[in-house]
Amino acid sequence: MTYIVTENCIKCKYMDCVEVCPVDCFYEGENMLVIHPDECIDCGVCEPECPAEAIVPDTEPGNEKWLEINTEYAKTWPNITRKGQAPDDADEWNGKSGKAEHLSSSPGSGT
Ligand code: SF4
Ligand code: F3S
Repeated sequence: MTYIVTENCIKCKYMDCVEVCPVDCFYEGENMLVIHPDECIDCGVCEPECPAEAIVPDTEPGNEKWLEINTEYAKTWPNITRKGQAPDDADEWNGKSGKAEHLSSSPGSGT
């Protein structure tokens, strides 16, 4: 089992999650973060920290696609351990449907 970041992180990218992870297993894309499934110790501390409620255990049904996305991008995106600035329009995107099509495969800058 692992925790994963799901669709509602896209374009919200609040980054409160990275501050609390004891093993620093978040990786940064241009407009979303992912969790490295092999590094996550399933502590669950990050889940309530996300204002977009985008972090879930991978045991929840229907999230296979997001487990795959976390697994793949964690291999190439840079590690992030400090909270940066969320996008100016993050709150406008919070809860919007159809965000998956906006996912950028480009890496973020990492910290
Ligand atoms: Fe990090 Fe724990 Fe969240 Fe896994 S569940 S990403 S170890 S804070
Ligand atoms: Fe994304 Fe939530 Fe973290 S919006 S960057 S998973 S705090």
